[in-house]
Order: sequence, then C-alpha cells, then structure tokens
Amino acid sequence: MNSNYVSLFSNLSVALDTHKAYWQSHAFREPELPWRAQLPDLHAALLALGDESLLELESDAGALQRFTQDYVPGQDALLKMLEGIPSLLRSPDEIPSEMRFFAKHIPGRKWQQIQYFSAHTESRGKRFIDWCCGKGHLGRYMARSRAADVLGLEWDQVLVDEGRDLARDMVEGTMDLQCCDVLSRETVDHLASKDHVLALHACGDLHRQLLTTAVLKPMAAVSIAPCCYQKTRAERYEFLSRQGQEQALALRRQDLHTMVQETVTAPGAVRRRRIQLQQWRLGFDLLQRELRGEDTYMTTPSLPQSVLKLGFKGFCRLLAERRGLSLSAEPDWDHYETLGEQRFAEARRLDVLRLSYRRALEVLVLLDQLLFLQEHGFQAELREFCPRELSPRNLLINAWRD
Ligand SMILES: C[S@@+](CC[C@H](N)C(=O)[O-])C[C@H]1O[C@@H](n2cnc3c(N)ncnc32)[C@H](O)[C@@H]1O
Repeated sequence: MNSNYVSLFSNLSVALDTHKAYWQSHAFREPELPWRAQLPDLHAALLALGDESLLELESDAGALQRFTQDYVPGQDALLKMLEGIPSLLRSPDEIPSEMRFFAKHIPGRKWQQIQYFSAHTESRGKRFIDWCCGKGHLGRYMARSRAADVLGLEWDQVLVDEGRDLARDMVEGTMDLQCCDVLSRETVDHLASKDHVLALHACGDLHRQLLTTAVLKPMAAVSIAPCCYQKTRAERYEFLSRQGQEQALALRRQDLHTMVQETVTAPGAVRRRRIQLQQWRLGFDLLQRELRGEDTYMTTPSLPQSVLKLGFKGFCRLLAERRGLSLSAEPDWDHYETLGEQRFAEARRLDVLRLSYRRALEVLVLLDQLLFLQEHGFQAELREFCPRELSPRNLLINAWRD
C-alpha cells in the first residue's frame, strides 16, 4: 500500500471538511451565503470584480485559486496538497505517419487525448478492453500502435456498428466491439482475468462499475480517466475504500457536479442565451420565494433555449405551471426580471469561492478509488495525463497487479 496516497487522502479529507461551508454553499441557490460573516473581505472583493477580471478568473483555474487563497485562511495549504499528484507531462512520441490516418475519423481534441492517454499507459495484460468505447477510437489506436488485441464494450448499437466498420482494415492488432450494457451482469462474461481495461471518460456509475468489477474479476490492470462523477443513481457519493468509509466527509450529488463545473466557453450567441436563461431562473426564484412565503430555492426542470421566445413572463408562467405554483395576481414582471439580472451578476462572482475547490474535491474522489484498488491488491498511481486545455478531466488512475 502506497502510504503517500493514504496520508494525502486523509489530510485532504480533513482539510475539505474544515472548509466545507465554502464549497457546499451555492451562490445561485442561496442569496445569503453562510460564509459571508467569516470572509467579509473576500465577499467584498468578489462583488467588486469587473467583468473582464471575472472572465479571466473563470477561464483560468490556477488564477482563480491564487485569488481566493489570499483571503481564505488555510486554503493555500489545502491547495498545496494537490501538488502531490504528478502533473505531466510525458508528451506523446512523434506519431508515426502510418498512424495519422486515424485522425480523420476522430474529433481533434479526442485524438490528442487518446495520444496522451496512451503515452501514460503501459501495456500490462494479454488484451485491452475499451470500456464504454463509443466508436472505439481509443481501442483502435491501442490495437494499431501496439499490435494488440482489443475488445470494445459499448451499449449503443449504432456506435458499435460504426466502430466495427472503422476497425475493419486493421493490419496489425485486432479490434472487435460488443454491444453490451456494462452495468448488466452479463458484462463479466466478456472479460478475462488477464485483461487490461481502459476507460477514457466513462461517466459516474460506468467507471464505478469498472472499479467494482476489477476487484471481483482478477484483471491484470485498469487505466481509468473518469468524468461526470454526478451521473450516478446514488444521491451521495458512496466511498469505496475502507479509509473513505471511515472518514467524516459526505459528498452530495451537487458536490460531484461542482467537481466538473466549467464556465461556459460556448461561442458568443449560445453563451448569451445561456446567461439569459440563468438570469430568468434567478428572477423566477425570487418571485417563487415571495409567492410561497418561503425563503428557499426551488429546483426547476431544465428547459431548451427555445423557451427564450416566451419572454420572461411566459418563462415564469411555464415554470410555475410545471411546479404547480399559482400565479393569481399579476406580478411586476419588469421588477423581477431586473432583480434576476442583478442576482446573476452577484451569484456568478460569489460562486468563485465554491469553484476554487473543484480540483481538491475531484482528487479526493480519485484517491478514494485508487485506495480501493490498492486495498484489493493493485499497485496504483494517480497522475495528470493531458493538458487541461485538451480536457479538464485530465486525471488518470493506473492500477496493476504484480
Ligand atoms: C463520454 S462517452 C466516452 C466514449 C469514449 N470512451 C471516448 O472517450 O470517446 C461515454 C460512452 O459510454 C456509452 N455508455 C453509456 N452508458 C453505457 C452502458 N450502460 N453500457 C455501455 N456503454 C455505455 C455511451 O454510449 C458513450 O459512447
């Protein structure tokens, strides 16, 4: 058992527990944040941020953390712990020209992520399994570059068929794809004990299932770069490792969502429409608090951007109807629309504190998963495998049995 990971997990869990008021409260849901009295200077500094400075912080996770740690006692020590995770970077070797033909079937960033993933993953089994493989781009790359046998598991038959077509002309290595729900019991029938399972960006329950399967079936190795931790049936993160189960911290689904929350980097018009929707939601939130006489956030269904056509009044009427709320008197719509815009500007600024804990929360969850594998006889390491610009989900657990 690697004791560095054991102590890193334990220290991080204690520190995050101490700081939980800062990452659990959500500025978009709570107009009055519980940390305001403890961190008045940060509260004021965030509200004073100009639009340009805010955008700069939102688009640079490192700058955002440097900003908050000047105001939050102990945050610098907490963030320093993350330096225990090796950051890159072994760059992929020069890609041989015969491999480059792959790129034309693969979206640009995915192609680069695959090369980095491969550069950080040693072959440790008799066969690779590409877990939730989509069209099997990663598997095909591994089959071809290492003359390996690969089996891709994917539940969408259309992707399986396309993946098989793409793998047809392989000269060295083989790639087959099977249509299967990896959450079903039958999955283990596809696996053999000397398999090395690869999972690039398999969401919540999908990578969790791999972890629990890997310890039941004596697999040779797993290499997992998870994403979308919040896509899980459980309301809370269920710690897998013994150490995780014994510590005090609890993570709700919304905290798992915090881990992957990025600022919208969509093109101008899309971004403006998303902002407009968020402003309206906050306007509606203030209205519903008054109508219900209850100062609490009410969750509302997600709606397509086309609802913008309804205008603010129609939007509120729709949400009220969906949530069974009566709008008998005619509210002052302009007033609530303006309040929504003001709340949005404030909430976006104050939310910077919560976002500064994203990486620490993600590392905690990955350490839990790594420790779980260690507890079941795997050697394991956690590292960054690609630059953040290629994917913010750039952490990889490599685990293998001796
Ligand atoms: C985020 S994509 C990742 C695909 C691929 N690994 C990549 O990095 O390009 C997740 C994939 O998991 C598949 N998937 C979702 N649920 C699944 C399940 N229960 N069993 C098998 N595949 C599933 C989806 O169809 C999708 O292709």
